Amino acid sequence: MVPLSGFESASAREILAWAIEAYGDDFAIATSFQKEGMVIVDLASRISSHVRVFTIDTGRLPDETYQMMETVRQRYGIQVEIVFPDREEVEQMVMLHGPNLFYTSVPSRERCCEVRKVHSLERKLATLKAWAGGLRREQSGTRRLTPKVEKQGERMKLSPLADWTSAQVEEYIREHHVPRHPLYERGYTSIGCAPCTRAIEPGEDERAGRWWWEQDAKKECGIHFGADGKVRRAPVEEVETEEVEMHKGFTLWFTGMSGAGKSTISRALELRLREKGAKVEVLDGDVVRTHLSKGLGFSKEDRDENVRRIGFVCELLSRNGVIAVAAAISPYRAVREEVRARIPNFVEIYVECPVEVLAERDVKGLYKRALAGEIANFTGVSDPYEPPLHPEVVVNSSTETAEESVAKIWATLERLGLVSFDRSSLSHQRI
Ligand code: ADX
Repeated sequence: MVPLSGFESASAREILAWAIEAYGDDFAIATSFQKEGMVIVDLASRISSHVRVFTIDTGRLPDETYQMMETVRQRYGIQVEIVFPDREEVEQMVMLHGPNLFYTSVPSRERCCEVRKVHSLERKLATLKAWAGGLRREQSGTRRLTPKVEKQGERMKLSPLADWTSAQVEEYIREHHVPRHPLYERGYTSIGCAPCTRAIEPGEDERAGRWWWEQDAKKECGIHFGADGKVRRAPVEEVETEEVEMHKGFTLWFTGMSGAGKSTISRALELRLREKGAKVEVLDGDVVRTHLSKGLGFSKEDRDENVRRIGFVCELLSRNGVIAVAAAISPYRAVREEVRARIPNFVEIYVECPVEVLAERDVKGLYKRALAGEIANFTGVSDPYEPPLHPEVVVNSSTETAEESVAKIWATLERLGLVSFDRSSLSHQRI
């Protein structure tokens, strides 16, 4: 790559105006609809009403990114050109390594980026004479030397915002009412593929949300350019190859009366978490009572013992990076609090349902028998249930569908920073 002198003192607007004038339809803006890309689109649209914009649809983008394509069309009248990965290449990769290969090792993650992103970009660039992207020098060490204009083989690469600070980008966005990707509001600072990006904690590096499960690996998707202008993967030695699988576990504790929906909702949640590549174990009261708590009855002492045992297993699991899901009536507040105190990431979910509705449903026929006096100490009928005072989530199976409850729980996990966003990734953090 050859940095071109003379452009360094030019403004972003001047660089774009030059490229639009010099290359016309052979010039296009590449964007993933992050702040920088949107500033470039906005700047360019003020220069010409006919600017080409393309994006790479890796197939794993968050829904909000698709919304942005529509936003750009409505706001600027630009029909975004969508570039897809090679179908055969993707099919082969996921058949061999599974759809979520990126979580297994850095080379696998790079392979995925390469197939879905790098190759797609290469194909698109082959049709262009000049293109612009949103790199800024401030963003990372590897971007520190980004020239505003460089020659990559026969192609010109523009980084019009190379010398902009993030404050300047913000300022421009505010001043010109540039549409913002909805995920920024949710704590994202770098937006890529859904399973590979999460919100960051205050004070974390801007790109910390990318491939967060990797410790010190170089956080680029491997799009680098050789002297010939060909897209190259990051040099191998720059990449940490050690497998990193240490994830942060947590405990989801479902409490509520028999038949309220604890098992159904927890299983649905389990599925959803597993889809995201998480390790999940469900400890269901009914099941646990056949082994771990075999022989325990329904006296207060036995129930408390049951809850303590489930809590103990949850503690072991979550401290080893597994998501533990407990689904037990656990009617007594004090012992639930005792368990909460032992587990750092404890999320209590109260599955509410009026006892009349439960008696009406009576899936197991137990309420009828309890009401007839045939079962002693039956929770809600002849035994107490103490609802949590401060649960993290309350769901109600008499007024919500199981899916709605799952969505509600998911939103809370997101808010707590335990998973990132809907339909996308787990916020498994480094430990
Ligand atoms: S807990 O109180 O110790 O947390 P757990 O969730 O393990 O209860 O088990 C509850 C299940 O045991 C109920 O869903 C029901 O099927 C069955 N069961 C049998 N006897 C009782 C009872 N007296 N009260 C509540 N549930 C009972």
